[in-house]
Amino acid sequence: MSSSAPETTSIWRRTGAPPEFAPLPGSTSAEVVVIGAGVTGLTTALLLAGSGVQVTLVEAGGIGAGTTGDTTGKVTSQHGMIYRDLIERHGEATARAYGQVNEQAIEQIEALCRTHDIDAGFQRRAAYLYTTAQDRVAELHAEFDAARRLGLPANWVDDPELPFDVAGAVRFDDQAQLHPMDYLAGLAATLAPMPGATVHTSTRAVNVTETDGRVVVTTERGEITADHAVLATLSPITDRGFEFARLSPVRAYGISVAVDDPGFEGMYLSVDDPSWSLRRYDDGRTRQVVVVGGSHPVGRAPKEDGRFELLERFAREHFEVREVTARWSAQDHTAMDRLPFIGRTAFSGHIHVATGFQKWGLSAGTFAAHLLTDLITGRDNPHAATFAPTRLEVTAEATSFLKHNLEVARMFVEDRVRPEAASIDDIPPGQGATVRLGADLVAVSKDHEGNVTRRSATCTHLGCVVRWNRAEASWDCGCHGSRFDREGRVLNGPATTPLRER
Ligand SMILES: Cc1cc2nc3c(=O)[nH]c(=O)nc-3n(C[C@H](O)[C@H](O)[C@H](O)COP(=O)(O)OP(=O)(O)OC[C@H]3O[C@@H](n4cnc5c(N)ncnc54)[C@H](O)[C@@H]3O)c2cc1C
Ligand code: FES
Repeated sequence: MSSSAPETTSIWRRTGAPPEFAPLPGSTSAEVVVIGAGVTGLTTALLLAGSGVQVTLVEAGGIGAGTTGDTTGKVTSQHGMIYRDLIERHGEATARAYGQVNEQAIEQIEALCRTHDIDAGFQRRAAYLYTTAQDRVAELHAEFDAARRLGLPANWVDDPELPFDVAGAVRFDDQAQLHPMDYLAGLAATLAPMPGATVHTSTRAVNVTETDGRVVVTTERGEITADHAVLATLSPITDRGFEFARLSPVRAYGISVAVDDPGFEGMYLSVDDPSWSLRRYDDGRTRQVVVVGGSHPVGRAPKEDGRFELLERFAREHFEVREVTARWSAQDHTAMDRLPFIGRTAFSGHIHVATGFQKWGLSAGTFAAHLLTDLITGRDNPHAATFAPTRLEVTAEATSFLKHNLEVARMFVEDRVRPEAASIDDIPPGQGATVRLGADLVAVSKDHEGNVTRRSATCTHLGCVVRWNRAEASWDCGCHGSRFDREGRVLNGPATTPLRER
């Protein structure tokens, strides 16, 4: 991150130490290439290797460089206000399947930790969905009714054992929390020595093509030819299936605070506005509360920033905070019909994607790994059609799909004509803004000494205009969620190449 950003590193990155691997040494071949070393990619590679498949995993950064290392670390089937909505959109059978596969993922993660001796602090905990607003109790109760109907372990409780008053809550029993970086470190350490498995970090994939049933993954360090490719990159890096256009990218913020006594044991998510996600993390020396919230669409950070201050204010209002131990942010994508896309991408027989986890990828990404392994090894999976990226939902999805793309088109046009600053002189040290220089719209940032860096303001994915994100000192694209640092290097896809120099 640049010198002008506040230091943003999650508590999991501060306290975890994932193994490191050599970059790809040159062109090679494999049966399957997995791109991305988050929970989805690592679990997929591990399951494939365990099924006797020769698998090569490549990762642009290090293990856990993406969103997984910045999560809240909750492993649960309780994904906010979702089950009533899923029943309405897709019917009871699909909603039940969504709940079941996420429940199974809790068991699968527990089994992986046990079998491979992964010390990731996996702990069974109750997960609560709560409201502090009396006028939301009826809606929350309807969500509880839906979850019960689907056979999920839901109970209505008036007192969710929080150190502040709430109006009502739904408790899901036997859910879990873990240390996400320690979990990824354990998966990677298990995967690397398996027969047929190879792991390469610092290896960015820039293109994936398929010809005559063979896939070629072009990386910055050589090509890998394979029978199948799995794009576990959070946002798929090929445009083949147009998943990017059916996903809404959302950014959220987290802090951890040291306290003497959190006063709670469970994991919590409020349905209020703003919404807060809470859990505790005890590292043996300190007791900490993790608070996550402040979501907004990528590329549309509120101008007044203050996201971290918002979280800290909430923490200080509800807990005796001794110090803020970490602050960070991350993003995830939600599919228009609220079901992840998992499986073969459109117009392809051998390129697979897993995305759209709507901030619940620890469980959903684990399920995705099982489903993709079944698809690649030719095993039947009863959920393949439900989550297929090629599924056709022409009702509610079509409307929001259209709305989303109209919004993208509007941003594209407006940002081109309206720069964020009139001139470079108007940009204060430590900040950035798009500026019109002649015919070009240029992304200009200044470090704290006033040194200027200029890059093209045109996103290298599909040409929308990037905007300055004050909280994180990055260039963010509101169209499909790509982000770049002040030097123009890719922080988040779907873009795979840096902003051009200007
Ligand atoms: C603030 C926040 C809190 C969350 N908390 C929770 C939670 O408590 N529980 C939960 O279940 N979910 C949570 N989520 C959601 C969850 O973290 C994600 O859905 C999940 O981590 C996705 O995992 P992934 O492996 O698919 O993606 P990632 O973890 O993002 O992994 C993708 C990897 O691909 C790599 N990559 C990208 N492009 C390339 C390329 N071109 N070449 C090579 N490598 C590439 C990236 O560097 C990255 O390491 C949260 C999300 C947010 C934003
Ligand atoms: S992310 Fe698609 S145009 Fe920028």
